[in-house]
Amino acid sequence: MYDVNLVRNDFPVLKKVIYFDSAATTQTPIQVVEAMNEYFYEYAGNYGRGAHQLVRETTDRCESAREKVASFFNADPAKIIFTKNTTEGINMVSQGIEWEPEDHVITTSIEHHSNLVPWMRLRKKGVSVDIVPANKKGIVHPEYILSAIQDNTKLIAISHISNVLGSIQDIRSIIKIAHNNDIKVLIDGAQSAGHIPINLKSLKCDYFVAAGHKGLLGPQGTGILYIRDPDSIEPIYLGGGTVNNVNSSNYSLEPSPAKFEAGTPNIPGIIGLGRAIDYIEAIDIKNIKEHEHKLSKYAISLISEIPSLEIYGPKKRASVVPFNVIGMNSHDVAMIMNETKNICVRSGFHCAMPTISQLKVDGVIRASFALYNTMEEVEIFADTLFQISNLVS
Ligand SMILES: Cc1ncc(COP(=O)(O)O)c(C=O)c1O
Repeated sequence: MYDVNLVRNDFPVLKKVIYFDSAATTQTPIQVVEAMNEYFYEYAGNYGRGAHQLVRETTDRCESAREKVASFFNADPAKIIFTKNTTEGINMVSQGIEWEPEDHVITTSIEHHSNLVPWMRLRKKGVSVDIVPANKKGIVHPEYILSAIQDNTKLIAISHISNVLGSIQDIRSIIKIAHNNDIKVLIDGAQSAGHIPINLKSLKCDYFVAAGHKGLLGPQGTGILYIRDPDSIEPIYLGGGTVNNVNSSNYSLEPSPAKFEAGTPNIPGIIGLGRAIDYIEAIDIKNIKEHEHKLSKYAISLISEIPSLEIYGPKKRASVVPFNVIGMNSHDVAMIMNETKNICVRSGFHCAMPTISQLKVDGVIRASFALYNTMEEVEIFADTLFQISNLVS
C-alpha cells in the first residue's frame, strides 16, 4: 500500500476542503502542474509541426505521453488518440462510423448523457437506437444485452462504471456476446480509468473512451480514445496534422493516430497527462483500487446507520456513494455539507436523467472518492450527514 498522507502533500487544495467529487473531476498533483509549467517556461513549441528544437522537444514529450498512456492500458500507441474529454471521444465514434439507415445501436438507461445523446441523435439518420434498462441497482446483465441484439445491430455502447450508482458492468461478457454476433463495442471508461486496472489488449473492446481529468489525475481538457481498428471510423475533423499529401484535387490521410488529431492539440495538457500516468504507476493502480474500495465500504458502513437516509446502488460498487436525505432536496444537503464542513459533494442529476428518473427521485447526492481521501474524512462526512438527517427526523 502507499502512505495516503504523503500523497496528500501533492494536492494542495485538500488542505482546504474534503473533496468527495472526484467522479466529476479530480484534483491534480503538483508534479503534473510542474510538468505543464516546465513546458511553458522551458520548451514551448508546436507538436509535430516544424523542425526546430522547441518543436522537437515538444513532439518528443507528447509522443512519450502517448506511449505512457498506451502502456498503462496495454495498447498500441498508434491506437491511442488524444481528445479533449470523454464526450469528444464518444462523438468521434458516433459521427465517425459510416451508418446505414437500417443499422441498430444498443445503449443503456444507466449512461451519462455523453454516452446516450450522441447515439440518440443517430435516429435522425434512420438508425434505430434501443436503450436497454438497467435493473434498480444499476446493473445491465449481459442477458439484457443479448436479448436486445438484432440482425442489424452494429454497435453496443455501455459505461464500465456508472457515474451515479457506482455499479460495475460485466463488460467482458458483454464484449464476448457482441463479438460472437459480429457487433462492435464502445466502453465508456470515464469512471473506471485510473480507478481499476484496465488491459485493453485482453478486453478487446473496439473503442474505449476516458477522461484525462478524472481518475487519470491529468489536467482538464484532456481525454483519450482508443480505437482497436483505426480503419473502422472516419476522422470527423480534417485539417493540419491529419493529411500527408494534398493537391488541389485530392488529399491523403496520415495513419492513426495523426489522422484523428486535427489542429494543434492541448499540448501542455497532454504533457501533464503523461506525467499523471507516471504518478499513478509509481503508486500502482492496484493499490489505488484497494484504497478506494476501503473508503467506499467504510462510508457505506457508517452512513447505513443514519436514519432518514436512502442509499442507492449495488453492494459491490466502485468508489461512488449516492444517497438522499429523505425529505430534503439534494442541492440543499450538498450546500449544508459544504458550508458547515467544507465538504464538496455533487448533487442533482449528474448528467444522467434517465438513471435518476429510474430511481423516482429528482436528484441524488454523490460522494466519490479518490486515492487521496482518508478514513478520517469519511468519518467527518458521515458525522455531518448524521447531523443533517437530524434536521428532518
Ligand atoms: C460515465 C461518464 N461518461 C462520460 C462523462 C463525460 O466526461 P467528460 O466530462 O470527460 O466529457 C462522464 C463525466 O462525468 C461520466 O461520468
